Amino acid sequence: MLTVLVTAKDGQLAQCIESIAPKHPNLKFIFKSFSQLDITNFKQVNSVFNSSEQFDYCINCAAYTAVDKAETEIEKAYDVNVLGSKNLAEVCRKHKVTLFHLSTDFVFDGKTLQPYLEDSITNPLGVYGDTKLKGENAISETLENHFILRTSWLYSEFGNNFLKTMLRLARERDEISVVSDQIGSPTYAKDLAEVILKFIETKNTSYGLYHYSNEGAISWYDFANEIFKKTDKDIRLNKIKTKDYPTPAERPKYSVLNKEKITNIRGVSIPNWKDSLAEAIANLKEE
Ligand SMILES: NC(=O)c1ccc[n+]([C@@H]2O[C@H](COP(=O)([O-])OP(=O)(O)OC[C@H]3O[C@@H](n4cnc5c(N)ncnc54)[C@H](OP(=O)(O)O)[C@@H]3O)[C@@H](O)[C@H]2O)c1
Repeated sequence: MLTVLVTAKDGQLAQCIESIAPKHPNLKFIFKSFSQLDITNFKQVNSVFNSSEQFDYCINCAAYTAVDKAETEIEKAYDVNVLGSKNLAEVCRKHKVTLFHLSTDFVFDGKTLQPYLEDSITNPLGVYGDTKLKGENAISETLENHFILRTSWLYSEFGNNFLKTMLRLARERDEISVVSDQIGSPTYAKDLAEVILKFIETKNTSYGLYHYSNEGAISWYDFANEIFKKTDKDIRLNKIKTKDYPTPAERPKYSVLNKEKITNIRGVSIPNWKDSLAEAIANLKEE
């Protein structure tokens, strides 16, 4: 049986992994919370890996993900996304553990209208994207047996995300405005979790960088519209431009990922965003 260490057990992706774990009885999971395993604390990382349990894989779900706050909490974002990632890579190398790490579409500047390939030129617009890119580099320079999956617009029934924010706003307001000039692909975090476990179960050794999101290219407005349609919410939804909704961190205008590389991996399928949204909403109702 393969043993899989999952960091940041209270984060969105880790909770998705935990929720699908029973469907994968061939894998033994060990989930560690932030307080049990702070990835910026090298001594603590080392001691978790030195424990009696030997891990085959580590899925790093820990990250500094507050995109706007990162513009002022630069050091904190750097510590988690760069130094923390490097710590894990170093300890994984020492213990011969394969590391799965997540990165983001925000490593791109969005100044194109072509889906981004894994080797497209990166140019993060903000601190968050910059630290995630440096984290990718820290891992690939430190550890051979790693997988880095860049993903985008993650949502699920867990944690804080766009789906849950829209449903909360629909309860609180009669009218909301959402930007319609940022184009990307929503990704149901459970689909991403399934892909990671597929890589593990098939013992894939084609290490490196991959892009994964749900299929489709839409705006945040389109996403909100579909959420309200699927949940029968009676709310007035207005289209606005990014310039009318200023945020501390600039976002890419276009961040669709080209997923051809990952679709060539045995057993990996990519659901359409509308189908995955329907599933997430059904699962949210059960929560
Ligand atoms: N969410 C998105 O839209 C999105 C899009 C593209 C890529 N990604 C990437 O996908 C991955 C998973 O995202 P997510 O949505 O699951 O993020 P999330 O819900 O914010 O989870 C991140 C978790 O990491 C924890 N954490 C922060 N610092 C830590 C540390 N030093 N040691 C251990 N844990 C720490 C956080 O705890 P606290 O909450 O207590 O700080 C949180 O529980 C991340 O790598 C993210 O960059 C996310």
